[in-house]
Amino acid sequence: MVVGGGGREHALAWKIAQSPRIEKIYVAPGNTGTSLIAENLNLQPTDIEGLGRAAVSKGVDLAVVGPEVPLALGIVDHFDSLAIPTFGPTKAAARIESSKVFARDLMERNGIPCPKGAAFSSYPEAREYVRRQQPPIVIKADGLAAGKGTVIANSVREADKALSEIMQAKAFGSAGDKVTIDECVTGREVSLIAFTDGQTVSPMVPACDYKRIGDGDQGPNTGGMGSYSPPGFFPAEFAEEATNTVLLPAVRAMAREGIPYKGVLYAGLMVTDRELLALEFNARFGDPETQVILPLLSTDLVEILLAVIQGNLERLRMEWTTNACVGVVMASAGYPGKYETGYPIKGLDNVGEDLLVFHAGTRLGDDGQVYTDGGRVLTAVSIGKDMAEARARVYRNLPSIHFEGCQYRKDIALREIS
Ligand code: GLY
Repeated sequence: MVVGGGGREHALAWKIAQSPRIEKIYVAPGNTGTSLIAENLNLQPTDIEGLGRAAVSKGVDLAVVGPEVPLALGIVDHFDSLAIPTFGPTKAAARIESSKVFARDLMERNGIPCPKGAAFSSYPEAREYVRRQQPPIVIKADGLAAGKGTVIANSVREADKALSEIMQAKAFGSAGDKVTIDECVTGREVSLIAFTDGQTVSPMVPACDYKRIGDGDQGPNTGGMGSYSPPGFFPAEFAEEATNTVLLPAVRAMAREGIPYKGVLYAGLMVTDRELLALEFNARFGDPETQVILPLLSTDLVEILLAVIQGNLERLRMEWTTNACVGVVMASAGYPGKYETGYPIKGLDNVGEDLLVFHAGTRLGDDGQVYTDGGRVLTAVSIGKDMAEARARVYRNLPSIHFEGCQYRKDIALREIS
């Protein structure tokens, strides 16, 4: 059972379906793409009791959780209590993502390199701290805020406004009871996402995502408009350094503190002129990074998931191809603001073998036609022997899929080849 319904979960189900060990896949709630390779269950990822009942009644013997909210609600603890082997961290361990204050403390206590900053539960003290810093500074709501809880404040005035919205007006509810305030560091961002069984840490190929809606990183933030792997500016020795200075110390510290961490640990890193810094941790696979990482994995994903659950990761040799992969998100007009849905998606029946298409906001009509049903609709992905080939392939083939108002970035992975 795969829990979730976005492009990440379609990519997970697609990779899992390639395993000879799999008889049947359920995805809850899934999307049109997953319905072609699995059975979708009409259950929301937050309905952990309902998901548990479904998993028991269907005889599920391996569950994988995509989004952060069910992890923070304790879906892994609940499934464990039902004896369903489940891939992901417990509620306590998922705090590495669900509490920015917890993550900052963990990093500071364990010497994990991160931007200078502090955590606050007092609004006046947070305001006071802002006045002692040089903007720009980064303010983060402590709890989960659907990706909207981070503000880069370019002046004391903007910082005050953000603090007031988060801590006083409670724009994100109790997620804003505390905040972290960090210096704003500049450089290149990279996602280093690793499997871990609580002891061994096996990083996946690194990837970069594009958060802004427009080319050249213009416009508002989104859930992710594209991704590529591997970034040339983050060679194997950087990945090794980040594993040794960020991922391993975090996993070891959690084990020492009695909250063993199992599943996927995602380090959001900044490569500055001088150093490698950890900006944040996520307790899950990235979206849209997963859509470009899993096509490069040669090893059976199910073997990896089971090794993590059973604590045998050290014995597993994970293999990656040396190819490159580029993913471009096709979104509805107006996204990330207001957008309309219900437009037919043309060309899905004739996708050539040069393109993988992972669904997110799609719906299958009674007439058998696939319609748009969300802001981010599809991720189109191509593999190539190098980044130039992968990029040329995705942009050459992507126009064969069309829906009214479709928008996508034209500059995904461009910096890698220009
Ligand atoms: N790509 C950012 C995330 O998954 O959080």
